[in-house]
Amino acid sequence: MDWKIEQIIEDKQVQQELREKGKLPRHVAIIMDGNGRWALEKGLTRTEGHKEGIESVRDIVKASSLIGIECLTLYAFSIENWKRPVHEVGILMKLLEHYLKSELDELHENNVRIKAIGKLNSLPKVVQKLLHKAMTLTSNNTGLTLTLALSYGGRWDIVRAVQLISLDVRRGKVSPEDISDEMFSSYLSTKDLPDPDYLIRTSGEMRLSNFLLWEMAYGEIFITDNYWPEFRRDLFYQALESYMTRERRFGKTSQQLSDNEKGSKDSYLQRVINVVKKGNR
Ligand code: IPE
Ligand code: IPE
Ligand code: MG
Repeated sequence: MDWKIEQIIEDKQVQQELREKGKLPRHVAIIMDGNGRWALEKGLTRTEGHKEGIESVRDIVKASSLIGIECLTLYAFSIENWKRPVHEVGILMKLLEHYLKSELDELHENNVRIKAIGKLNSLPKVVQKLLHKAMTLTSNNTGLTLTLALSYGGRWDIVRAVQLISLDVRRGKVSPEDISDEMFSSYLSTKDLPDPDYLIRTSGEMRLSNFLLWEMAYGEIFITDNYWPEFRRDLFYQALESYMTRERRFGKTSQQLSDNEKGSKDSYLQRVINVVKKGNR
């Protein structure tokens, strides 16, 4: 199903109003937390919570694609989550398998490019195969880049990058002086993604839980008390609205930012004047 066709008019309007408010984040990353608590509070099993969480994934992926977010990265399973009871890990892997099987065609039809980051070779073979299929099929798509963080850990990725760089140093391909921020980033599993502009965490926990440690150096953070299964596009729009009111200073002062803005507007105006002058000559 083409998501644009099924999108209701009210939602189109809300998205349009939001876009007009300012600059949307290019890259949104989400720590999808609270499935278990959502379920237990309702007298359901944790499995029911994870199932309902998938409905939120579906809705947020669609909404992100429709509103024009470039990259959405979802923390679906951390490297530490392997320490959960075997039964729960098994259920999460089955749900992942089911999600990939049932959603792939629709994601592809809607121009979504699927990626996965993390220690993927620890995942069950069947999941690895499905991920490979999904990434290959959608590799040339130009819409939303949907990255699933699976068996992922920020420290794991950083340590792996250090190992890879060390190997290249040993082989004489790079020298220690070549190591810079950009160069280091190019050894991480997120190398093809811009740094996240916005990190959303549901369920009120105020921690990173080993997610995108390097990449989040200057990302904005939004924490909501809502559990992940409750987090649908209306709450997502509220989070985006909060992003748009923020001033990202990257270490600079407010004054410098407004001067820069003025400078770039002035130079734009100057360029327009020059073009008009040229045309009149
Ligand atoms: C998030 O919900 C899903 C995963 C970590 C896979 P949780 O399962 O962590 O739910 P809570 O935090 O126990 O409520
Ligand atoms: C973070 O949630 C990992 C994912 C959402 C996949 P957790 O529920 O595992 O995080 P902690 O253990 O509460 O920090
Ligand atoms: Mg949790």
